[in-house]
Amino acid sequence: MPDLTPMRLHKFLARAGVASRRAAESLISSGHVKVNQQVVTSLGYKVDPGTDEVRVDGRLVELILIHSYIMLNKPAGYLTTMDDPQGRLTVRELIPQDEVKGLFPVGRLDLDTHGLLLFMTDGELANCLLHPRGQVKKRYRVVADGLFGEKPAAALRSGVELSDGITLPAEIEIGEVSEKQLSPRQKLRLAEDKGFSKWQTEVFCTITEGRKRQVKRMFMHVGHPVLELSREAFGPLVIGDLPLGSWRYLTDEELEALKRDCGYPV
Ligand code: URA
Repeated sequence: MPDLTPMRLHKFLARAGVASRRAAESLISSGHVKVNQQVVTSLGYKVDPGTDEVRVDGRLVELILIHSYIMLNKPAGYLTTMDDPQGRLTVRELIPQDEVKGLFPVGRLDLDTHGLLLFMTDGELANCLLHPRGQVKKRYRVVADGLFGEKPAAALRSGVELSDGITLPAEIEIGEVSEKQLSPRQKLRLAEDKGFSKWQTEVFCTITEGRKRQVKRMFMHVGHPVLELSREAFGPLVIGDLPLGSWRYLTDEELEALKRDCGYPV
Protein backbone atom coordinates (compact mmCIF):
# COMPACT_ATOMS: atom_id res chain seq x y z
CA MET A 1 0.00 0.00 0.00
CA PRO A 2 1.29 3.51 -0.74
CA ASP A 3 2.08 5.73 2.25
CA LEU A 4 -0.79 8.23 2.64
CA THR A 5 0.08 9.50 6.12
CA PRO A 6 0.79 13.26 6.60
CA MET A 7 4.10 14.25 5.06
CA ARG A 8 6.16 17.38 4.39
CA LEU A 9 5.00 19.42 1.45
CA HIS A 10 8.17 19.05 -0.64
CA LYS A 11 8.05 15.28 -0.16
CA PHE A 12 4.40 15.24 -1.26
CA LEU A 13 5.25 17.24 -4.41
CA ALA A 14 8.13 14.89 -5.19
CA ARG A 15 5.93 11.82 -4.67
CA ALA A 16 3.31 13.34 -6.94
CA GLY A 17 5.89 13.72 -9.70
CA VAL A 18 5.85 17.52 -9.74
CA ALA A 19 9.64 17.78 -9.39
CA SER A 20 12.60 16.37 -7.51
CA ARG A 21 12.62 17.20 -3.78
CA ARG A 22 15.15 19.98 -4.22
CA ALA A 23 13.20 21.59 -7.07
CA ALA A 24 9.98 21.20 -5.04
CA GLU A 25 11.58 23.14 -2.18
CA SER A 26 12.32 26.08 -4.44
CA LEU A 27 8.75 25.98 -5.83
CA ILE A 28 7.50 26.23 -2.24
CA SER A 29 9.82 28.99 -1.08
CA SER A 30 9.13 31.06 -4.20
CA GLY A 31 5.38 31.06 -3.47
CA HIS A 32 4.11 28.76 -6.26
CA VAL A 33 2.34 26.34 -3.94
CA LYS A 34 -1.07 26.67 -2.25
CA VAL A 35 -2.53 24.30 0.34
CA ASN A 36 -6.28 24.68 0.82
CA GLN A 37 -6.15 27.97 -1.09
CA GLN A 38 -3.41 29.51 1.10
CA VAL A 39 0.10 30.13 -0.22
CA VAL A 40 2.58 28.10 1.83
CA THR A 41 6.27 29.06 1.78
CA SER A 42 7.38 27.16 4.86
CA LEU A 43 9.50 24.13 3.98
CA GLY A 44 8.51 22.23 7.09
CA TYR A 45 4.77 22.42 6.34
CA LYS A 46 2.98 19.05 6.54
CA VAL A 47 0.07 17.99 4.36
CA ASP A 48 -2.43 15.20 4.70
CA PRO A 49 -2.68 13.60 1.24
CA GLY A 50 -6.14 12.30 2.10
CA THR A 51 -7.78 15.66 2.90
CA ASP A 52 -5.60 18.64 1.87
CA GLU A 53 -5.93 20.25 -1.55
CA VAL A 54 -2.52 21.13 -2.98
CA ARG A 55 -2.08 23.30 -6.08
CA VAL A 56 1.05 24.42 -7.92
CA ASP A 57 0.46 27.55 -9.98
CA GLY A 58 -3.26 26.78 -9.74
CA ARG A 59 -2.93 23.18 -10.98
CA LEU A 60 -4.27 20.47 -8.67
CA VAL A 61 -1.61 17.98 -7.54
CA GLU A 62 -2.52 14.39 -6.76
CA LEU A 63 -0.30 11.57 -5.61
CA ILE A 64 0.71 9.24 -8.40
CA LEU A 65 0.43 5.75 -6.99
CA ILE A 66 2.01 3.96 -9.92
CA HIS A 67 5.10 5.63 -11.35
CA SER A 68 6.44 5.62 -14.91
CA TYR A 69 10.07 5.53 -16.03
CA ILE A 70 11.34 6.07 -19.56
CA MET A 71 14.60 6.73 -21.37
CA LEU A 72 14.93 9.02 -24.37
CA ASN A 73 17.73 9.20 -26.91
CA LYS A 74 17.81 12.98 -26.97
CA PRO A 75 18.94 14.57 -30.22
CA ALA A 76 20.96 17.80 -30.25
CA GLY A 77 18.82 20.92 -30.67
CA TYR A 78 16.29 20.14 -27.91
CA LEU A 79 16.31 21.98 -24.58
CA THR A 80 16.09 19.85 -21.43
CA THR A 81 13.01 21.46 -19.94
CA MET A 82 9.30 20.68 -19.91
CA ASP A 83 8.34 24.28 -20.46
CA ASP A 84 10.12 27.01 -22.40
CA PRO A 85 8.44 30.43 -22.19
CA GLN A 86 10.31 31.40 -25.37
CA GLY A 87 8.70 28.57 -27.32
CA ARG A 88 11.92 26.82 -28.40
CA LEU A 89 12.14 23.08 -29.14
CA THR A 90 12.13 21.09 -25.90
CA VAL A 91 12.40 17.42 -24.94
CA ARG A 92 8.69 17.58 -24.04
CA GLU A 93 7.90 17.16 -27.71
CA LEU A 94 9.72 13.82 -27.82
CA ILE A 95 8.15 12.01 -24.87
CA PRO A 96 4.64 10.59 -24.31
CA GLN A 97 3.51 13.47 -22.07
CA ASP A 98 -0.18 13.08 -23.01
CA GLU A 99 -0.11 9.37 -22.27
CA VAL A 100 1.93 9.65 -19.05
CA LYS A 101 1.22 12.67 -16.86
CA GLY A 102 3.88 14.15 -14.61
CA LEU A 103 7.05 13.00 -16.38
CA PHE A 104 10.09 15.18 -15.76
CA PRO A 105 13.75 14.84 -16.77
CA VAL A 106 16.25 13.48 -14.25
CA GLY A 107 19.14 15.91 -14.60
CA ARG A 108 19.85 17.63 -17.88
CA LEU A 109 21.79 17.48 -21.10
CA ASP A 110 22.94 20.65 -22.88
CA LEU A 111 21.16 21.82 -26.02
CA ASP A 112 23.91 20.44 -28.28
CA THR A 113 24.44 17.17 -26.32
CA HIS A 114 22.69 14.00 -27.43
CA GLY A 115 22.11 10.63 -25.82
CA LEU A 116 20.51 9.04 -22.80
CA LEU A 117 18.09 11.22 -20.85
CA LEU A 118 15.96 9.61 -18.19
CA PHE A 119 12.41 10.74 -17.34
CA MET A 120 10.18 9.63 -14.50
CA THR A 121 7.20 10.61 -12.41
CA ASP A 122 8.98 9.46 -9.24
CA GLY A 123 10.50 12.47 -7.45
CA GLU A 124 11.87 10.32 -4.63
CA LEU A 125 13.95 8.12 -6.90
CA ALA A 126 15.02 11.15 -8.99
CA ASN A 127 16.24 12.78 -5.82
CA CYS A 128 18.26 9.71 -4.91
CA LEU A 129 19.79 9.48 -8.40
CA LEU A 130 20.77 13.16 -8.47
CA HIS A 131 22.11 13.34 -4.94
CA PRO A 132 25.94 13.39 -4.81
CA ARG A 133 25.79 10.60 -2.21
CA GLY A 134 24.28 8.27 -4.85
CA GLN A 135 27.56 8.46 -6.91
CA VAL A 136 25.70 7.39 -10.06
CA LYS A 137 28.12 6.98 -12.97
CA LYS A 138 27.42 8.85 -16.21
CA ARG A 139 29.39 7.71 -19.23
CA TYR A 140 29.95 10.12 -22.13
CA ARG A 141 31.47 9.75 -25.57
CA VAL A 142 33.45 12.88 -26.25
CA VAL A 143 34.94 14.00 -29.54
CA ALA A 144 37.74 16.21 -28.29
CA ASP A 145 39.69 18.76 -30.29
CA GLY A 146 43.28 17.83 -31.12
CA LEU A 147 45.46 14.88 -30.24
CA PHE A 148 44.30 13.91 -26.75
CA GLY A 149 47.03 11.94 -25.01
CA GLU A 150 48.00 10.50 -21.63
CA LYS A 151 48.79 13.86 -19.99
CA PRO A 152 45.27 15.36 -20.15
CA ALA A 153 43.86 11.89 -19.41
CA ALA A 154 45.92 11.70 -16.20
CA ALA A 155 44.81 15.20 -15.17
CA LEU A 156 41.13 14.30 -15.60
CA ARG A 157 41.64 11.01 -13.78
CA SER A 158 42.99 12.79 -10.73
CA GLY A 159 40.61 15.77 -10.83
CA VAL A 160 40.94 19.31 -12.20
CA GLU A 161 40.24 22.69 -10.61
CA LEU A 162 37.14 24.27 -12.18
CA SER A 163 35.49 27.55 -11.15
CA ASP A 164 33.16 25.60 -8.81
CA GLY A 165 35.85 23.39 -7.25
CA ILE A 166 38.00 20.33 -7.98
CA THR A 167 36.29 17.56 -9.93
CA LEU A 168 36.11 14.05 -8.52
CA PRO A 169 38.29 11.47 -10.32
CA ALA A 170 36.96 10.58 -13.78
CA GLU A 171 37.42 7.33 -15.70
CA ILE A 172 39.05 8.12 -19.04
CA GLU A 173 39.58 5.81 -22.03
CA ILE A 174 41.21 7.17 -25.14
CA GLY A 175 39.63 5.97 -28.39
CA GLU A 176 40.30 6.64 -32.08
CA VAL A 177 42.11 9.64 -33.52
CA SER A 178 40.69 10.95 -36.79
CA GLU A 179 41.07 13.88 -39.12
CA LYS A 180 38.42 16.60 -38.79
CA GLN A 181 36.07 17.26 -41.66
CA LEU A 182 37.13 20.86 -42.28
CA SER A 183 34.96 23.57 -43.82
CA PRO A 184 36.72 25.87 -46.35
CA ARG A 185 36.97 28.52 -43.57
CA GLN A 186 38.58 26.03 -41.17
CA LYS A 187 41.06 24.99 -43.89
CA LEU A 188 42.10 28.60 -44.13
CA ARG A 189 42.51 28.74 -40.32
CA LEU A 190 44.59 25.58 -40.39
CA ALA A 191 46.99 27.24 -42.80
CA GLU A 192 47.15 30.50 -40.81
CA ASP A 193 46.77 29.52 -37.15
CA LYS A 194 49.50 27.35 -35.66
CA GLY A 195 47.30 26.41 -32.68
CA PHE A 196 44.52 25.01 -34.88
CA SER A 197 44.59 21.21 -35.05
CA LYS A 198 43.32 19.12 -37.92
CA TRP A 199 42.96 16.16 -35.54
CA GLN A 200 40.20 15.08 -33.20
CA THR A 201 40.16 12.27 -30.61
CA GLU A 202 37.35 10.10 -29.36
CA VAL A 203 37.45 9.85 -25.55
CA PHE A 204 35.14 7.95 -23.20
CA CYS A 205 34.68 9.82 -19.95
CA THR A 206 32.77 8.56 -16.90
CA ILE A 207 31.94 10.90 -14.03
CA THR A 208 29.82 10.61 -10.91
CA GLU A 209 29.04 14.30 -10.50
CA GLY A 210 26.50 16.30 -12.48
CA ARG A 211 27.62 19.92 -12.46
CA LYS A 212 26.57 22.34 -15.16
CA ARG A 213 28.46 21.78 -18.47
CA GLN A 214 30.90 19.70 -16.46
CA VAL A 215 32.41 17.52 -19.19
CA LYS A 216 32.86 20.47 -21.53
CA ARG A 217 34.54 22.50 -18.80
CA MET A 218 36.81 19.59 -17.81
CA PHE A 219 38.01 19.08 -21.38
CA MET A 220 38.41 22.81 -21.97
CA HIS A 221 40.53 22.94 -18.82
CA VAL A 222 43.00 20.40 -20.21
CA GLY A 223 43.18 22.22 -23.56
CA HIS A 224 40.93 19.95 -25.66
CA PRO A 225 37.55 21.62 -26.25
CA VAL A 226 34.62 19.27 -26.81
CA LEU A 227 33.49 19.12 -30.44
CA GLU A 228 30.71 16.60 -29.86
CA LEU A 229 29.19 15.10 -26.71
CA SER A 230 26.79 12.23 -26.16
CA ARG A 231 25.73 10.28 -23.07
CA GLU A 232 25.94 6.54 -23.52
CA ALA A 233 25.06 5.34 -20.05
CA PHE A 234 23.42 6.50 -16.84
CA GLY A 235 24.20 4.17 -13.94
CA PRO A 236 23.35 0.65 -15.16
CA LEU A 237 21.25 1.96 -18.09
CA VAL A 238 22.74 2.04 -21.58
CA ILE A 239 21.34 3.74 -24.65
CA GLY A 240 22.09 0.68 -26.85
CA ASP A 241 20.38 0.83 -30.23
CA LEU A 242 17.48 3.11 -29.24
CA PRO A 243 17.20 5.41 -32.28
CA LEU A 244 17.92 9.13 -31.86
CA GLY A 245 14.69 10.94 -30.95
CA SER A 246 12.96 7.74 -29.69
CA TRP A 247 11.97 6.73 -26.17
CA ARG A 248 11.08 3.48 -24.40
CA TYR A 249 9.90 2.36 -20.97
CA LEU A 250 12.53 0.93 -18.62
CA THR A 251 12.19 -2.79 -18.00
CA ASP A 252 11.55 -4.03 -14.45
CA GLU A 253 15.13 -5.32 -14.31
CA GLU A 254 16.53 -1.94 -15.38
CA LEU A 255 14.43 -0.13 -12.78
CA GLU A 256 15.58 -2.46 -10.05
CA ALA A 257 19.23 -2.06 -11.09
CA LEU A 258 18.81 1.73 -11.15
CA LYS A 259 17.41 1.75 -7.62
CA ARG A 260 20.19 -0.48 -6.33
CA ASP A 261 22.77 1.74 -8.02
CA CYS A 262 21.93 4.78 -5.88
CA GLY A 263 21.06 2.85 -2.73
CA TYR A 264 17.29 3.31 -3.02
CA PRO A 265 15.20 0.61 -1.25
CA VAL A 266 14.09 -2.02 -3.80
N1 URA B 1 28.51 17.65 -19.40
C1 URA B 1 28.38 18.69 -20.27
O1 URA B 1 29.29 19.50 -20.40
N2 URA B 1 27.24 18.78 -20.97
C2 URA B 1 26.23 17.89 -20.89
O2 URA B 1 25.23 18.03 -21.59
C3 URA B 1 26.38 16.82 -19.98
C4 URA B 1 27.54 16.73 -19.24
